[in-house]
Amino acid sequence: MLPGRISSDVVGIRQIRSACIFHNQRAVNSFQAERIQVALRYPKLSLIDFAARRNSSSPLLTSGPRQPKIERIKGLVATRQSPTNNMLFQSLRIRNVAIQPAHILAPMAGITDTVFRRFIKRLGGCGLIMTEFVSSEGMIRQNFRSQRYLYYMDEERPISAQIFGADPAHLAEAARQIEDLGFDLVDLNLGCPAKKVVKCGGSGLLRDLPLLERILRAIRAAVTIPFTIKFRSGWSDEEIVAVQVARMAEDCGVEALAVHPRTRLQGYSGRANWEIIQQVKQAVRIPVIGNGDVQAPPDAAALQAQTGCDAVMIGRAAASNPWIFRQLAELFQVGSYREPADADRYDLIRTYYSMLLAEDTPGAIGKMKQFASWFTHGVRNGTELRRQVQGAREAGEVLERVDAFFASLAPPQEATIAI
Ligand SMILES: Cc1cc2nc3c(=O)[nH]c(=O)nc-3n(C[C@H](O)[C@H](O)[C@H](O)COP(=O)(O)O)c2cc1C
Repeated sequence: MLPGRISSDVVGIRQIRSACIFHNQRAVNSFQAERIQVALRYPKLSLIDFAARRNSSSPLLTSGPRQPKIERIKGLVATRQSPTNNMLFQSLRIRNVAIQPAHILAPMAGITDTVFRRFIKRLGGCGLIMTEFVSSEGMIRQNFRSQRYLYYMDEERPISAQIFGADPAHLAEAARQIEDLGFDLVDLNLGCPAKKVVKCGGSGLLRDLPLLERILRAIRAAVTIPFTIKFRSGWSDEEIVAVQVARMAEDCGVEALAVHPRTRLQGYSGRANWEIIQQVKQAVRIPVIGNGDVQAPPDAAALQAQTGCDAVMIGRAAASNPWIFRQLAELFQVGSYREPADADRYDLIRTYYSMLLAEDTPGAIGKMKQFASWFTHGVRNGTELRRQVQGAREAGEVLERVDAFFASLAPPQEATIAI
């Protein structure tokens, strides 16, 4: 066991690497992290034994002088850290907009509607939220769905609205409408990989930088609120344009950049290449927001250490673990964070579902089923809960089934994890 905390076999390679970086030590590669992991798990095992376990005769593993360094890092991971004054992502300003802490909920179509955004906001630790992307063409036609996407409440502030499109004049008009609606920021989507979107904006614009420049200048001239962009690294590995786009955007008066370093062709496969975030950060003076593959709080520390980014943006992980922003704040303040117990998960599911019902959200039952598959991860016997929710015919019945499921569980157990 690590001192009074968790069993060492819970400490994963990723956590070990993040811990080493987080506490201002040098980065360790996954090979070194693996050695630390084994050393934590089997305290009596010498590194020579470890080499034998790996069936390796690598001098890196067996050479004597490396032992003290490993011991030092082991201590670092195993010791509960004292509160740090040097809090990561404490705050960020985009002109007049204070983002505190600098943890941002990524825009996600079909997920980050007003109910989900308020839900995240109330859980704490999230400094900025964004609407899902809204078509500038739809806005100009006063399309019902576009208007619905732009509904927000004051408690969501600061809030950014994201638009997409490919026509400079229409995007400028859409941005003006965003400003009139009282949003704090307007963001342009340069990341959506969907076929029907890339024909008229999204990541398709990364292949036409002259058009992109006209768009950026048109939006900039149309609004006085801060203007930001969110972009992928490029169309394909052969067409990486992130640094070029970043410099051009800064030159056009864009005030912050969110970088999701995957290419359009990559979609969501493979890994986000954080090196590109680092290159962008080094290329511009405006704030850079790092995004992509932050799955647990320690990843955010690793992202900052590797890239120097000014804020972290989290998407998919927030859908299955909406506490992640609060956990980040806890991690950066006290060096550890609390994992939710069953009671917390019950509370979470009930609160979100009740919000959907109270607000007569269109398609509430569909959303309940969609979120059930995310929120129930980590719940004991979660498969049964998911089955129960999927089998319900109406929204009220979903709530009854959730109540009955949690009532049938044995008393919840507390769990705290640390790195
Ligand atoms: C279901 C879904 C919907 C998304 N919708 C949007 C969107 O509307 N606008 C946008 O800029 N990115 C969108 N994204 C991309 C995310 O904002 C984010 O860049 C991506 O998921 C990588 O971050 P993550 O690894 O933290 O999830 C979406 C992603 C997902 C999974």
